[in-house]
Amino acid sequence: MSNKNDKYKIQDAIIHDLPEHEKSQMAADDHSTTGHEWDGIKEFDKPIPRWWLWTYYLSIIFSIGYVIAYPAIPLVNDYTKGLLGWSSRGAVEQQISAAKMAQSKYIDALQNASLEDVAGNEELMTFAVEGGKSAYAVNCVQCHGSGATGSKGYPNLNDDEWLWGGTLEDIYTTVSHGIRFEEDDDTRFSEMPAFLTDEILEKADIAQVAHFVRAFTGLDHDADAAAAGAEIFAENCAACHKEDGTGDQEQGAPNLADAVWLYGSEFDSIVNTISASRKGVMPAWAHRLDDTTIKQLTMFIHSRGGGQ
Ligand code: HEC
Ligand code: HEC
Repeated sequence: MSNKNDKYKIQDAIIHDLPEHEKSQMAADDHSTTGHEWDGIKEFDKPIPRWWLWTYYLSIIFSIGYVIAYPAIPLVNDYTKGLLGWSSRGAVEQQISAAKMAQSKYIDALQNASLEDVAGNEELMTFAVEGGKSAYAVNCVQCHGSGATGSKGYPNLNDDEWLWGGTLEDIYTTVSHGIRFEEDDDTRFSEMPAFLTDEILEKADIAQVAHFVRAFTGLDHDADAAAAGAEIFAENCAACHKEDGTGDQEQGAPNLADAVWLYGSEFDSIVNTISASRKGVMPAWAHRLDDTTIKQLTMFIHSRGGGQ
């Protein structure tokens, strides 16, 4: 208690020592307080600054205006729409239709142009490739990979090796009708026999012809077995893969004389292909995508580097 009294004494002494004009200034100030006091510090009862008050009033006026103009108050099954009729859904729709308008010139041109015309028109080609790229990302990555490099059983679309041909027309047909996709009557179709399962060849024959296949590309092989395999190949395989093993795009028969393998170059993998065949299936897209999108995809695939 005595401490507190000392403090007041010091305070009074300071005020007492102030110059006269400051003392009178203090007297003139409104010293009414809220009655709150902490440790000798009193809280003045002063009004809020004017600028603050006006900001406060203006924000109230703004919010009333906003509630009238824009959708604001939730009701039981609905909400107040606002006089301006703005809605976030409407705003998105407007942006989409603006984007469509901007594209429609190219879409129309794509619809009417032949594949060669598109390829010969730089502006249209750029548009098609960009569109094809996004359509690819949605529809094709799961099988051919994000960089179109493929994987076992799913061909790389960037290289010069084509199972079914790499011209614009070929790619367009493949994408439209698929491969061994039975729901499409125009699908590309061919079937390598399952030589073991269908009892066309014995295991030993298959091993020999597998050595012969590996010899095409200089992979490790047994020379005697390969020599015996040559005859088996000429009789059973050359009709599709050709005498020299270079394959036939009419039948989707892969080139066996290059370093590109759909199912792998390992001895066992080749034996498996010959024994049971593979019959890879690629879906047809003509039923699911519109023709312009398929043209765009064709341009995109063709532009990947390996188009013919
Ligand atoms: C369900 C998996 C799957 C999807 C999805 C798929 N493909 Fe394929 N695609 C394949 C398979 C498997 C093959 C190879 C078939 C074969 O063995 O002949 C193939 C082959 C191709 C070929 C032929 C390649 C060549 O060398 O001749 C093209 C072109 C192609 N696909 C493009 C596309 C495009 C474009 C899309 C997307 C619209 C797509 N694919 C989606 C599985 C798929
Ligand atoms: C009717 C045509 C046809 C005949 C006959 C045929 N093939 Fe095939 N071959 C294909 C097709 C089509 C493929 C593609 C794989 C698939 O989808 O079945 C293929 C794939 C292969 C592959 C895999 C190539 C890779 O890149 O992974 C090998 C190896 C192969 N054949 C070897 C043979 C051998 C050896 C014979 C003879 C014993 C033979 N084929 C007979 C059509 C044929």
